[in-house]
Amino acid sequence: MNAYATRTAAQLQTEYEQVKAHFEDLKARGLKLNMARGKPGKEQLDLVSDILTVLQTPEDCVSDGIDVRNYGELTGIPAAKKLFAELLGCKPEEIFVGGNASLTLMYDTISKAYTHGLLHSPTPWAKLDKVKFLCPCPGYDRHFKITESFGAEMINIPMTPTGPDMDLVEELVQDPAVKGIWCVPKYSNPDGIVYSPETVHRMANLKPAAPDFIIMWDNAYCVHEFEGEFQPFEDILTLCREASSPDMVFEYASTSKITLPGAGVSVMAASVDNQKYMERLLGIQMISADKVNQLRHVKYLQNKAHTLELMQRHAQVLRPKFQCVLRWLEQEIAPLEIASWQRPKGGYFVSVNTAPGLAKRTLALCKEAGVVMTGAGATFPYGRDPQDSNIRIAPSLPPVAELEMAMDVFCTCLKLAALEMQNAK
Ligand SMILES: Cc1ncc(COP(=O)(O)O)c(C=O)c1O
Repeated sequence: MNAYATRTAAQLQTEYEQVKAHFEDLKARGLKLNMARGKPGKEQLDLVSDILTVLQTPEDCVSDGIDVRNYGELTGIPAAKKLFAELLGCKPEEIFVGGNASLTLMYDTISKAYTHGLLHSPTPWAKLDKVKFLCPCPGYDRHFKITESFGAEMINIPMTPTGPDMDLVEELVQDPAVKGIWCVPKYSNPDGIVYSPETVHRMANLKPAAPDFIIMWDNAYCVHEFEGEFQPFEDILTLCREASSPDMVFEYASTSKITLPGAGVSVMAASVDNQKYMERLLGIQMISADKVNQLRHVKYLQNKAHTLELMQRHAQVLRPKFQCVLRWLEQEIAPLEIASWQRPKGGYFVSVNTAPGLAKRTLALCKEAGVVMTGAGATFPYGRDPQDSNIRIAPSLPPVAELEMAMDVFCTCLKLAALEMQNAK
């Protein structure tokens, strides 16, 4: 097997016929497979099902003298703050423990910036003519949908193997209309890139023109290694404080992929001044989040060391799935030089960058053969991938046997899309 670009027209025609025949064969199997979203598989849910029974009696429901079955503790129970502060490396007083999803907290921060303004906002964003937001991409589609829904003008920032292109970020924050940036610093969605220490330091040392510029630091995969040991990561709150911009960052995380997605606990970490400001607004919106669930998590996860042990058990389930995806790509696609990808050691995705113009066609072919994947373009603001190149693979949900089939389909469709393009030249 050698690169398609080096083959003769006749060789490409033969290859096309073979790949097309295999595609028809796969299609005839009537598959129904899904690699669309980063959902844990059943085995992972079963792994954590003991969390359902950690609270049995009324006495179990008391934590630090607080009966979690009742109203109160807007910012979360102290034991949960302590646990999350340990996981994120910040202080308990910098933690707000929310409800079942961090995405809600992120949406709410942006929403409050628009309606009320943030701590240092001269004006709520809704009253401004223009709000711009920096979007490292490929990135997480749901982040981009949030800022899109509020009408922000989103600016693409290319991702590099060390994180967002910081030269560009530093230049663009000189514009006072640029109000923030989305970041997934560890095992980014979808590339699985870990920001380098230099990127993290440059981010914390940004000197934006807007006094209310915010770094939306979504640390969704902070303890989510599936290969190797836990990789310590610097606390962005500390770094921003040391850079004299303590209020520039809001960090988010959740137990969605530690315990139960949709039934976990979310967290927002921010400076004490930011927390005080947000508390005033949040206290109008709610009395308290689900503290029963917070305590369930405290009892079940216990502390960082115990949580990391659990993450190693998740890793045992996830590792073969990622290995399967990477093996197929390595064997079937790498020699053809029609796509490139990172080899993540954590997180929930593998992101494939095809030669320009192949993503939509590949995914349409996958759909025809019964494999659903994240839509083309989803990883870019406005759903527009300028190169039509990025495809996100989410291997966590299907069992390995299904994944093998799905990857056969994916590689076949990618080849077919590339050959159709070569033959059309
Ligand atoms: C980067 C990132 N942030 C947030 C979420 C969702 O988190 P939650 O369930 O806490 O809303 C996901 C889920 O895929 C994600 O990939």
